[in-house]
Amino acid sequence: MQFIVKSGAVEKQKTACLVLGVQKKELTAAATAVNEASKGAINSILKRGDLKYKAGQTLLLQHVPELPSERILLCATGEGKAALKESEFIKLARAVAGELKATSVKDALVSLEDINVHGKDHSWKVRQLVEAIVYAFYQFDEFKSKSADALVLKKVTFLADRKQAKSLNQAIAESQAIGEGRNLARTLGNLPGNICHPTYLADQAKALAKSHARMTAKILGEKQMSDLGMNSLLSVGQGSDQESKLILMDYKGGKRGEKPVVLLGKGITFDTGGISLKPGAAMDEMKFDMCGAASIFGAMQTILALNLPINVVGMVAAAENMPSGNATRPGDIVTSMSGQTIEILNTDAEGRLVLCDALTYAERYKPKAVIDVATLTGACVIALGHHTTGLLSNNDELTEALLKASKDASDLAWQLPMGEEYQAQLDSNFADMANIGGRAAGTITAACFLARFTESYPWAHLDIAGTGWNSGKAKGATGRPVPMLIQYLLNQL
Ligand code: BES
Ligand code: MN
Ligand code: ZN
Repeated sequence: MQFIVKSGAVEKQKTACLVLGVQKKELTAAATAVNEASKGAINSILKRGDLKYKAGQTLLLQHVPELPSERILLCATGEGKAALKESEFIKLARAVAGELKATSVKDALVSLEDINVHGKDHSWKVRQLVEAIVYAFYQFDEFKSKSADALVLKKVTFLADRKQAKSLNQAIAESQAIGEGRNLARTLGNLPGNICHPTYLADQAKALAKSHARMTAKILGEKQMSDLGMNSLLSVGQGSDQESKLILMDYKGGKRGEKPVVLLGKGITFDTGGISLKPGAAMDEMKFDMCGAASIFGAMQTILALNLPINVVGMVAAAENMPSGNATRPGDIVTSMSGQTIEILNTDAEGRLVLCDALTYAERYKPKAVIDVATLTGACVIALGHHTTGLLSNNDELTEALLKASKDASDLAWQLPMGEEYQAQLDSNFADMANIGGRAAGTITAACFLARFTESYPWAHLDIAGTGWNSGKAKGATGRPVPMLIQYLLNQL
């Protein structure tokens, strides 16, 4: 897909589909120009009342007289001159993307430059549209014997003032890279557990490293991890025939010696629960238990595409959680790489077990910050639902930066508390800690567990159990929080 910026009179543009914002009380300058050029056709169609002025409503017009554009997609942008809310514009962007996919237009021209969104500029609008289009045009048909209909749209042009061209082109480059990174994360998430196992993820890292001179990949297998004392991580995959891997992707786009940001993903390629077996219903969705890892790959691909001038280490702790004669038993005690001992009271609380050793390993990078992303707790879905990612951290500055990035990118996160008082829930009679903290505050006690391994650097934990994938009819990985992660990095520049 090609996205470009152009200036000129809207009514003179030749395009397969003109995307035009209209509001109820008074047409904007662009809509007025199109209306006048078409000798009032727009107004007379609007008078029929087929377009409802609610965000996300559209009306596709064919054969509008006197205009060089083949079609016009009218988009409702509210009642009057008041600015739209951010969420309303996002609805509009998704609706436009959906309509463009449903028609068979090869190119489209978007004229939404004079639609105002509260607190946001034109770049933001372009960003939302690019992200929505790249998202909507994603198809995952690898495993269908008949592939999905070929997509026709090749080019989208945004109409803008010449002075804005530079900033809009920047917005396009960033949002297209984010959208494509997000789509990589979706594909990895959607792949089934029999294909996407830890070794498959390791190969992804190698492929990414091959594609860019400033990136290298290193994979630690079970022998190397055992030598390092990563017995907590290894305990998770020991019931599986698939070898566990610690995947390290080192990107050096910044100055020599500059401290890196470490991004760490939970990569449980399938979570049966282990001996603490999960119930059967919807267990297939536990192939998505590597969506944190997938988002790290998506973020790394985006960083490479944008050649960001920073140092970033992408880490993935990959294992498959299976029951077997070799599997970890409830009550087993392991010594983590940090030396702290863990009583594994529930083998289904495995995410924290793989992450804790990876977090200890991360110390060797002397990181500026470590951000882990994990489908960690069902409790997070209960607390925040499917709209908002849970954020827990040991550092206020990092928290603020991530919350800001989440707002800037419209990829929402919300902070949960993580005070010392919760730590006691992890007490064990036999080891330094248990791996579960009871039913109350399950997301918080999971983060409290991780906090015991992150004392030497600023750290934040993103629980994407509710936001990493959609269930039901639209079942599939979402690619979140790639937009938030990249926005966080961009905001540092
Ligand atoms: N991967 C799951 C968390 C999960 C469950 C995410 C459902 C999304 C939907 C994780 O490994 C897990 O099983 N967590 C347990 C922890 C519990 C045993 C303390 C949970 O949330 O039930
Ligand atoms: Mn589990
Ligand atoms: Zn899990």
